[in-house]
Amino acid sequence: MSRSFRRLLVAGAAGFIGSNFVRLLRRTHPEIEVTVLDKLTYAGNRDNLAGVDGYRFVEGDVCDASLVDRLAAECDAIVNFAAETHVDRSLMDPYAFIETDVRGTAVLCEAARKHQHEVLLLVSTDEVYGEVREGRSRETDPLRPRSPYSASKAGGEHIAWAYAESFGLPLLVTRGSNTYGPHQYPEKLIPVLITNAIDDMRLPLYNDGSAVRDFLFVEDHCLAIERVLLEAPAGGVYNVGTAAETTGLQVAEAVLDIMGKPRGLIEFVADRPGHDYRYALDISRITALGWEPRVTFAEGLETTVRWYRDHQDWWRPLKSGEYWDYYRRNYRPLVR
Ligand code: NAD
Ligand code: DAU
Repeated sequence: MSRSFRRLLVAGAAGFIGSNFVRLLRRTHPEIEVTVLDKLTYAGNRDNLAGVDGYRFVEGDVCDASLVDRLAAECDAIVNFAAETHVDRSLMDPYAFIETDVRGTAVLCEAARKHQHEVLLLVSTDEVYGEVREGRSRETDPLRPRSPYSASKAGGEHIAWAYAESFGLPLLVTRGSNTYGPHQYPEKLIPVLITNAIDDMRLPLYNDGSAVRDFLFVEDHCLAIERVLLEAPAGGVYNVGTAAETTGLQVAEAVLDIMGKPRGLIEFVADRPGHDYRYALDISRITALGWEPRVTFAEGLETTVRWYRDHQDWWRPLKSGEYWDYYRRNYRPLVR
């Protein structure tokens, strides 16, 4: 199967994964007309799309139903990356997450239904399964989110599945694991560690650094989304990950080793409330669709360290003002 649509609305593509996705799609499918809709929150940045041509940019909110309706009328498919995405911020301001990740998703569903789109692809997350103490999450497992972020993402998914059931909305969902690489806002683990290490600042790890994640290089994540968008039958949900397991402490040590900095820079800090200590995905469904990760964690981390070293003009302006207010609120001393 190869889905044929001509005009794609990509919401949230001034952010990390969305901008990498548009860069990939313009290269692989220049015949698809791309409209980007992005609110340019603190995490959105027009510079992320620098050097990409042949797309239209609209600054606006996925919750703005009349704007989304107008843009959807001119397109025949939607991919949604737009979301509030940082778990720690969701513990400080959950309403922003419910607004964009639940209501914004509903607005996109309604527009895709009304304009009889070929497909709506929601970029979801492995966090909707909640903490996985043993085994691996399969796409048929129940959703048991444990943070305001993951609960909002699960809420958006539930609305979209309701549209698929009630109105026959042709829906696709990807549930990706922890993604890293160029253009990631420096609040997530890997860019916090790298940019702090560049400045010889402490590398903060929650509690004992033992929480496990499956780190996925951003190009691999984008290739998976592209494959699902073009090849998967409507109604499909796909886990996307590498099936490797890495602790926060292993990541911090690897960053310091690549950069030739002392491990003494690691600092254990107070834990994230409700911290999920492990996610793990069964990826057999997406591999059966013909996708598999190409980049190992060692290769991807080297590339990412090099990118942050070489693009200080990109991230230094982001680590200022509100960023440090957030940083001071978020990181607290560890009391044992
Ligand atoms: P990001 O925070 O880097 O970017 C989010 C983008 O959405 C920004 O450009 C922001 O301006 C935009 N946005 C936010 N609210 C909006 C609104 N109301 N209207 C329009 N635009 C809005 O996020 P990311 O890390 O690139 O994640 C993209 C998507 O992938 C999200 O849906 C996220 O849940 C999902 N995801 C992320 C990861 C990860 O590890 N980063 C893993 C799996 C899934
Ligand atoms: O799993 C996919 C999800 O990955 C995405 O859906 C989210 O949008 C994305 O933010 C990410 O969520 P996590 O909470 O897993 O990512 P984060 O980078 O915030 O944290 C990764 C792990 O590292 C987690 O166990 C918490 C820990 N951590 C994080 C930060 C920011 C630290 O120990 N220190 C830190 O400073």
